[in-house]
Amino acid sequence: METKIFQIEELDDAAELLKRGELVAFPTETVYGLGADALLPESVKQVFQVKGRPSDNPLIVHVADFKMTEHFVDKYHPLTEKIVQHFWPGPLTLIFPIKKNSLSPVVTGGLSTAAFRMPDNKKTLELIKKTGAPLVGPSANTSGKPSPTTAEHVYHDLKGKIAGILDDGATQIGVESTVLDLSGSIPIILRPGAVTKKQLEEVLQTEVLLDKHLVKESETPKSPGMKYKHYSPDTPVVMVRDNDWESAIQWAEQNQKAVGLLVGPMIGNKFQSADRYIFQDDTVEAATRGLYSGLRALDEADHSDVILTQIFEENELGAAYMNRLKKAAGQKYFEKNS
Ligand code: TXA
Ligand code: MG
Repeated sequence: METKIFQIEELDDAAELLKRGELVAFPTETVYGLGADALLPESVKQVFQVKGRPSDNPLIVHVADFKMTEHFVDKYHPLTEKIVQHFWPGPLTLIFPIKKNSLSPVVTGGLSTAAFRMPDNKKTLELIKKTGAPLVGPSANTSGKPSPTTAEHVYHDLKGKIAGILDDGATQIGVESTVLDLSGSIPIILRPGAVTKKQLEEVLQTEVLLDKHLVKESETPKSPGMKYKHYSPDTPVVMVRDNDWESAIQWAEQNQKAVGLLVGPMIGNKFQSADRYIFQDDTVEAATRGLYSGLRALDEADHSDVILTQIFEENELGAAYMNRLKKAAGQKYFEKNS
């Protein structure tokens, strides 16, 4: 199948394909999603096949406005209005209990809850409206690869397997949305993202819990996506603490390791290496925006024996950055004397 790249003037053609049950990837402010009409179970099944994604990992239902969720949601949390007014459209996915049979178990993984999100991308909101149905949208990568932050990344992974990609350049945020469980009495963050615990607590004036616990294979996961190994490039990734860069580079030289660097300009300007991916600036925002793109670039360049990456404090956006980076690094830090 030919994978067509749609420019913004071609929204109608993209919507037409979705209505016909084809898959079209779409841009959001976080990462690109792999879109299918959420009301067509056969199309949703194809999403899992194309990605190579385990079928018990439920999908996010992307809506064009809050009203679109009403058809599905059984009961809203009392804080819903406040949350939606403040954070939608935006990088915040909300979990609600749903009406029986309102969504196919292919979408929900058979759970009695479902995930909803209104992405902050005008073209995609328009695409959903034109399709006339919500779109499921896992990240539009092959399972196990970093999520795509450009249409080119999507094309690289899925060309020939999907009907189209709506191109809107590079995404702003760079990692997936915050997932907030609103199906119980206390809001719980199941996946950290650009909407932070602190922001939520400030707006809601109530405690928000953070489910840090990584789910073991045998347990029923709260956010099923958490049990799978994610975002892991083939080249080993090692995290380096700010004071350990000299030792890490020395270690690499002594052991004749070709190093790939994934760092901000401050560290990048101090050390040279064949493969380098330098973030736009030294902020955690720039690092988060460049993380997946950098991992892909360094991994595919294939010259490096090891990718050394910069870390950030694990609060606010740093919590999201470190959550994804730790998965890519299999929790491995560079340790002096080891
Ligand atoms: O930013 C994003 O969220 C991107 C863009 C494309 O919107 N999408 C994305 O989708 O990251 P995906 O499928 O890669 O992640 C969805 C996450 C998974 O961790 C999944 O387990 C969780 O949401 N999830 C979905 N339905 C759930 C439910 N009913 N209860 C708990 N977790 C759920
Ligand atoms: Mg994903």
